[in-house]
Amino acid sequence: MCGIIGYIGDRDVSEVVIEGLTRLEYRGYDSAGVAILNDNGIDIRKRPGKLNILKADLKKNPIKGHIGLGHTRWATHGIPNEQNAHPHTDCKKNIVLVHNGIIENYQMLKDGLTKRGHAFRSQTDTEVIAHLIEENYKGNLEEAVRISVKELKGAYAIAVLHKDEPDKIVAARCESPLIVGIGQSEYFVASDIPAILKYTNKVIFINNYEIVSIDKKGVRVIDYSNQPIKKKAVCVDWDITQAEKGGYDHFMLKEIHEQPDLISNILNTRVRGNRIHFDELRIKDTILKKIDKIFIVACGTAYHAGLNGKYMIEWLAQVPTLVDTSSEFRYRNPIVGKNTLVVVISQSGETADTLAALRESKKKGAKVLGVVNVLGSSISREADGVIYTHAGPEIAVASTKAYTAQLAILYLFSLYLAGLREKRTPYKIAGYLKELKKAPGHIKKMLEQYGDAKKSDLKHKARIFNREYHKRLKDYYQRDSEGRKRAPNCCFLFLGRNVNYPSALEGALKLKEISYISAEGYPAGEMKHGPIALIDENPWTICIVPESSLHEKMISNIMEIKSRGGIVVAIATEGDEEIRKVGVDYIIDIPRIEQTLTPFLVAIPLQLLAYFVAREFGEDIDQPRNLAKSVTVE
Ligand code: F6R
Repeated sequence: MCGIIGYIGDRDVSEVVIEGLTRLEYRGYDSAGVAILNDNGIDIRKRPGKLNILKADLKKNPIKGHIGLGHTRWATHGIPNEQNAHPHTDCKKNIVLVHNGIIENYQMLKDGLTKRGHAFRSQTDTEVIAHLIEENYKGNLEEAVRISVKELKGAYAIAVLHKDEPDKIVAARCESPLIVGIGQSEYFVASDIPAILKYTNKVIFINNYEIVSIDKKGVRVIDYSNQPIKKKAVCVDWDITQAEKGGYDHFMLKEIHEQPDLISNILNTRVRGNRIHFDELRIKDTILKKIDKIFIVACGTAYHAGLNGKYMIEWLAQVPTLVDTSSEFRYRNPIVGKNTLVVVISQSGETADTLAALRESKKKGAKVLGVVNVLGSSISREADGVIYTHAGPEIAVASTKAYTAQLAILYLFSLYLAGLREKRTPYKIAGYLKELKKAPGHIKKMLEQYGDAKKSDLKHKARIFNREYHKRLKDYYQRDSEGRKRAPNCCFLFLGRNVNYPSALEGALKLKEISYISAEGYPAGEMKHGPIALIDENPWTICIVPESSLHEKMISNIMEIKSRGGIVVAIATEGDEEIRKVGVDYIIDIPRIEQTLTPFLVAIPLQLLAYFVAREFGEDIDQPRNLAKSVTVE
């Protein structure tokens, strides 16, 4: 979950590495560091805290050179201080190394290395790699790395420099992402594409158990048994503007605003005439026709999109569908066979648990389809088939545009299956597509109404909540009418039914991850089975109540909350008179759309509400504490 970068070329390496780390900071931001090789030897600069601290430091005291490494850390072993920040070195400081991943057998290796006289400076697992390479170095860095990585257990992408081989970077990969960027007489290694996009879009994807050496002359890839491997470079169609804020205050806000165009693009490229095309889907129609069960497996926001997918697939294609979080699925021996389709959903395509679930499913003989955003990521390569969401780079840690892109792909996939399995006629499918094509326009309209950080009505609501919240916290323990001491429930409850139950979960997740306010999502029908105990005048309940066949049931839930003094924010279809009669406190209107498509529209105010609350609270929206964008460790 850290970000690594290495560069060799004619540019000022410090600039390239800092630019790369800026793009990789979403992967972790506990500390940052660089190592630059020049005539003075290896110069290392590292600082705890966000990259800006290191940036400022390098501005004051620049380090010059044309070859170097950089790292942005999400701490696993050892607190986020300077000692534990990468790059790490061997005893003599001849070797310098950056690492993303976890070395599971590091303690055993460390004990052995210590006995053999190596002195450690940090508490990290990473440092053992530098010392191992030191032991195995006999004048050839590539060979020393090759021998050393064979001793490692766990996950790693590493990049290494040796003082005596000043024109070379050696990198290796096992389970953590690694790419090589190819420029004009310059080469890069990095954890992810955005890190190098400013300079090149020509990329080689490095696989597990491969070692790559870059020098000014080119790229050489070998496997762990020293066999050369031929690799093909691909040109990625992302461009650097997609990885910039483009005038928005935060990436999250920018990415929220990208959603209408993004969904339009998905529809334009996937739907030709009234036929749905998944050109990169490598699983044959004959197989898709035969499947008798679908498992959708994912984490976090992607899991919520998957829950929505269950409703869509069962309703449209009528295939029994189960949904599981990857971390549970992988360890519980699920009943998966050769007629099961496992759909793994992942923005990054690198989430460790989801990747493990994919492998487990393949072992059991199932076909695996990846719904993935990042081109060439591990999941996209290991799955039997893939459907790219083509959402462009998502930089904010809180996922927004990847979520609605996943919803769009799952909806289209449900229709595709429905057609294939003759559960819906082409005429009906054309009707559903026509309705889906309305979504981008409606989202655009909502963004005009709610998405402007200067005048949004949601910002006003967030401000009220902020004021109430702090008022409650000031006299932390209140006394109730009988004089008993009570802690206030300054939290949010999100309630929805059917396709908007996953929306409720996603709304709660968005809020808690960026504002740190406790928030729970529930199917509204479950309220009476527990959460109703929370209701008093304190928590705000967000009720997702668009026009639907379950509208009346939601109204009853709202009445139950109101009669207990709760504060209700209703997300309702414009012109809904009934909701106005039940006395909710605030109404957020959404445009009218067919009920199964309401999650596309509901997502917008939920994302914006979370955004504005976090903004009111002054939180670091794009980089919330303790989180990282790409969870490549268990
Ligand atoms: C929430 C969020 C996370 C991710 C989860 C899965 O805003 O971003 O919950 O959705 O870590 O990540 P991917 O989709 O990359 O597998």
